[in-house]
Amino acid sequence: MKKILVTGGLGYIGSHTVVELQQAGFEVVIIDNLSNSSINVLEGITNITKTPPLFERLDLRNKNDLTDFFQQNKDIEGIIHFAASKAVGESVADPLLYYENNLNTLVYLLQECKLNGINNFIFSSSCTVYGEPDVLPITENAPVKVATSPYGNTKQISEEIITDTCAVHPKLQAISLRYFNPIGAHHTAEIGELPIGVPQNLVPFITQTAAGLRKELSVFGNDYPTPDGSCIRDYIHVVDLAKAHVVALQRILSEQNKSNFEMFNLGTGLGSSVLEVVKAFEKVTGLKLNYKIVDRRPGDVVSVYADTQKANKILGWKAEKTMEEALASAWKWEQKIRKI
Ligand code: NAD
Ligand code: WQD
Repeated sequence: MKKILVTGGLGYIGSHTVVELQQAGFEVVIIDNLSNSSINVLEGITNITKTPPLFERLDLRNKNDLTDFFQQNKDIEGIIHFAASKAVGESVADPLLYYENNLNTLVYLLQECKLNGINNFIFSSSCTVYGEPDVLPITENAPVKVATSPYGNTKQISEEIITDTCAVHPKLQAISLRYFNPIGAHHTAEIGELPIGVPQNLVPFITQTAAGLRKELSVFGNDYPTPDGSCIRDYIHVVDLAKAHVVALQRILSEQNKSNFEMFNLGTGLGSSVLEVVKAFEKVTGLKLNYKIVDRRPGDVVSVYADTQKANKILGWKAEKTMEEALASAWKWEQKIRKI
């Protein structure tokens, strides 16, 4: 069994990926500092896979602790690096926190890869690197635009750090996965998204509104140049996203990659507007959602969806689940955690 380190493995996307990795026959060791997750997630993962993953509570910013960890785990063959801070607004308010947490941790991990001969590295990137695209759907060749937030900038700089590192370490095989908008939860409702405080993202805000935790959803703008005036995004089921990590990992472990740093968009290729998501949620749940139209949210781009051909052809991966399935699973999860 190949042993894989998953940083941030108790977080939203990380936990779903741990499940898929275990189910694909990998041994998983998680590092997480629980800054944006709960220790109960370990139990949720174990309930699904019947195998508790190894877990180390550790802050990746503590370089010495990380070095000790790798001394004690000499058999790690690959790393999937999810751990990061991800709230766009918070990154504007506290940029140094974001530069420290998202960049130092990457540098320390790449240093450990070099020291310990770990040659397989997968990085969590984001469609945010494209900014407001000139052409839709967005291919991986689309230009990286000036970042609109420190968070977005950390993803751009991270990709540059990996590019420069791969250039001088030909044995290091890296893949950057640029996620579009992950939503939904595991169909068992054992794991899902656990936003701390008021959700910033659309789907957890919708499910919390339906659960009665929020009075109403504010739809940020209906005067955009889109068919119904609300913004368009590419919402991808988190389980589809998790599965892509397994195939990306298998690609580099079996050295099928064409260059030692590759990038792939992970989306469905379909754009949905905010109002379409609201309608789809109402349809799959049979509930009426309280919402009102308010002003645009500063910094929002109009329309973003992926060209997924590169991932389809080269990774042999395709999103299989629909937005409706994702919304139904998100609602099942919300009901479970709110005991509705
Ligand atoms: P998340 O916050 O749920 O998970 C991140 C995990 O990393 C958390 O469990 C947190 O406790 C942990 N962590 C953070 N800093 C750490 C540190 N210094 N040491 C150890 N653990 C630390 O986030 P997520 O939604 O699962 O996102 C995972 C990755 O995907 C992030 O890199 C994020 O930027 C990226 N991403 C997320 C989205 C999204 O919409 N969720 C979209 C694109 C990219
Ligand atoms: C989706 C749509 C909002 C909340 C963010 C990050 C991005 C990436 C994914 C990490 C937008 C609208 C939202 C609400 C609303 N993360 N909305 N009312 O902004 O596409 O992307 O998460 O890399 O970097 O910026 O996702 O879920 O916040 O918004 O109308 O209460 O829903 O305006 O059109 P976004 P989101």
